[in-house]
Amino acid sequence: WNNCLDLADLSAAQLQEVLDLAQDYQAGKKAPALKRPVYGVNLFFENSTRTKSSFQMAEKKLGIDLIEVNPATSSVQKGETLSDTLRTLEAIGVDFAVIRHGQTGWYEELMENPYVTLGLFNAGDGAGVHPSQTLLDLLTIENEFGRIDGLKVGIIGDLAHSRVAKSDAKILKSLGATLYFGGPESWYSRDFDDLGTFGTLAEILPELDVVMMLRVQLERFDEANRDAFTAVDYYQKFGLTKKRAKLLPKQSIIMHPAPVNRNVEIASELVDGDKSRIFTQMGNGVFARMAMMTKVLQARGLMEVDK
Ligand code: CP
Repeated sequence: WNNCLDLADLSAAQLQEVLDLAQDYQAGKKAPALKRPVYGVNLFFENSTRTKSSFQMAEKKLGIDLIEVNPATSSVQKGETLSDTLRTLEAIGVDFAVIRHGQTGWYEELMENPYVTLGLFNAGDGAGVHPSQTLLDLLTIENEFGRIDGLKVGIIGDLAHSRVAKSDAKILKSLGATLYFGGPESWYSRDFDDLGTFGTLAEILPELDVVMMLRVQLERFDEANRDAFTAVDYYQKFGLTKKRAKLLPKQSIIMHPAPVNRNVEIASELVDGDKSRIFTQMGNGVFARMAMMTKVLQARGLMEVDK
């Protein structure tokens, strides 16, 4: 827990412990006291609404002081490297950084750099993983069903570019969920073969306890594929329409990491419908992030540990 970069680094017991803590926070548990003033910085090199504001909310609830640095107006624009940016912030007294970066595995070199010792949280790395999203997804599922083991979860859409899909699939499988994948077959990666079964929406929807629809990440497409994409065609072939949603079992819930392209990945009415947990996921994100930050701050001796 010295950093939080990839939930795959954690054991099943550690995952359950952090989920339990997130649920305790959600039930009103007070955060342990900080041992001294703690300073954090949120560096978002890619756009974000949910993850950035949710980390900020979690930090405020834990009593952390935030230092404002915007990569778009920082000396990164003059060519300063990420490691020198972090060394600079550490030198002025910052204890940890939350980082979203377009480079997959942005943290790997930093882990080898003896001069960068502040805490690091991965708020999404390129097409890598998105650990805090995965934790809030686990929390949402566990709150709903009381378990993850034995549930059937479908992940549908832009599997080629989604760090949420990669992150969630690996961890859900490790916790005993049965996985299904859907969407355009050309966007499906054989890397998912070990984790679950690919099928058409008509085949997989009737099986599911949880359907996770993914955003089409046009910003990560090459020009030819971006030009070839049409939202109307995609929605007709792979969108969760109201008609297709009727195939879902009664107990099932609909999730989406958001931002949602309404009427592209999912019918707008379903986003706001009874089965949707999309805005519940966002609320859960604050408690999931409080819990993961607590673990790292405690591991670093910056926060009291409950007796
Ligand atoms: N789900 C998610 O990562 O949303 P943002 O890009 O708005 O942070």
